[in-house]
Amino acid sequence: MSKPRLLALSGSARRDSLNRKVLAVMARGAEVAGAEVRVVSLGDYPLPLYDGDLEDGQGLPDNAARLQQLFADHDGLLLASPEYNGFFTPLLKNALDWVSRPLPDGSGRPGTVHVRGKPAGITAASPGGLGGIRSLQHTRQYLANLGFLVVPEQMGVSQADKAFTDAGELRDEGVRKAVEGVGAAVARLAMAVRGG
Ligand SMILES: Cc1cc2nc3c(=O)[nH]c(=O)nc-3n(C[C@H](O)[C@H](O)[C@H](O)COP(=O)(O)O)c2cc1C
Repeated sequence: MSKPRLLALSGSARRDSLNRKVLAVMARGAEVAGAEVRVVSLGDYPLPLYDGDLEDGQGLPDNAARLQQLFADHDGLLLASPEYNGFFTPLLKNALDWVSRPLPDGSGRPGTVHVRGKPAGITAASPGGLGGIRSLQHTRQYLANLGFLVVPEQMGVSQADKAFTDAGELRDEGVRKAVEGVGAAVARLAMAVRGG
């Protein structure tokens, strides 16, 4: 059977994003566990703030439809997001809210048909001492509301501004294994969901 395909997203499109570095480690964990991973930046899919009048007038923005298709083409999600005041970021929320809107094919089906029952894994990273863990419960709940199966493993990387080598490797082996472990758990669940 072919490898499960996982989509990897960061809640930050910032050039030097710490979460993007964490996402790369999570992706490697998933790859070692047998998945294929495609890392995508939400910065490449700019979207207006969700606006019902805009949607009524112009339909689903092209980038929202492109993101819906990306979810349709993948078997699961790897996510690393910054914590903003205890929550995941508006960039991520807005993108996924758009994804959840009806497909542009006139069927009236919501975009959640492309994510329902698919595994997801969540991490966060922060220069602070808690590593963004306060946000993870909200990220977990939000993804579950969309229909994802969020694996129990999760990780918040604290002092993330000092946690990486210049080569982008996590210095602490325990932290590295925990982040890789989230990716591996998603890969394993994706294989199990597909029946092997
Ligand atoms: C509006 C805002 C709110 C923030 N709130 C938190 C917070 O609640 N907890 C935290 O640990 N860091 C917080 N931070 C700091 C971020 O963790 C930090 O900017 C981080 O580097 C962002 O992730 P990135 O490097 O992936 O872009 C906040 C930053 C911003 C801009």
